[in-house]
Amino acid sequence: MRHPLVAGNWKMNGNHESIAALIASLLEIRSDADVVIFPPYVYLPLVVAGIEGAGISVGAQNVSEQHSGAFTGEVSGQMLREVGCRYAIVGHSERRSIYGETNQQVAEKFTAAQAGGLIPVLCVGETLEQREQGETLAIIAAQIDAVIKGSGLGAVCEAVIAYEPVWAIGTGKTASAEQAQVVHQAIRQQLGDSGAKTRILYGGSVKAANASELFMQPDVDGALVGGASLDAKEFKEICKLA
Ligand code: 13P
Repeated sequence: MRHPLVAGNWKMNGNHESIAALIASLLEIRSDADVVIFPPYVYLPLVVAGIEGAGISVGAQNVSEQHSGAFTGEVSGQMLREVGCRYAIVGHSERRSIYGETNQQVAEKFTAAQAGGLIPVLCVGETLEQREQGETLAIIAAQIDAVIKGSGLGAVCEAVIAYEPVWAIGTGKTASAEQAQVVHQAIRQQLGDSGAKTRILYGGSVKAANASELFMQPDVDGALVGGASLDAKEFKEICKLA
């Protein structure tokens, strides 16, 4: 009932040459899953044009909470939609920890993304310290609750949620399939009945070698892939496994 989704977050990586090569390999993907690519802002039009007709969607790694006006350096949901984005990541842990985005700001970005016609991919996750203190589920519930307060439960259920434990991002340490399932199940319970249709992705050092075990979990509906999405062969393989 929930269609699997594999998303590639390229973060601040790539140039014309490497992106042209990645686009060529994206065109070879054969997968039953929905596939979405999140390139850096400036390469969005290039990727949108390059993958046209391939059945792959494109999204932005971030979005402004503002609609338009004197907000130097910001990009609105409507602008992203206009250049061909379907999705926008909100609340990635790198935005939260490096750029100080709060739950409140993430909630505003979520609302703005939906208002601009985009499907938000809401990232949530705990730090290692929070996990060791036994706070994982409470931290994640609070991150999601802030967005429910801002946009309503229905809106959150229509979006995509990505559980990305901060300690697993770019570290090579994946959450075990069981650890992921516990959190995904708790998120789904928080969403209530409508959460049955919400896609909840796992992110954090996903590779072809650990993807199948994660995808076998009943509440894991796909992956948000960072580093491995820059490796054409790995990413293709992950898409095939979903
Ligand atoms: P890695 O797959 O490199 O750990 O990154 C995960 C991530 O942050 C995706 O958004």
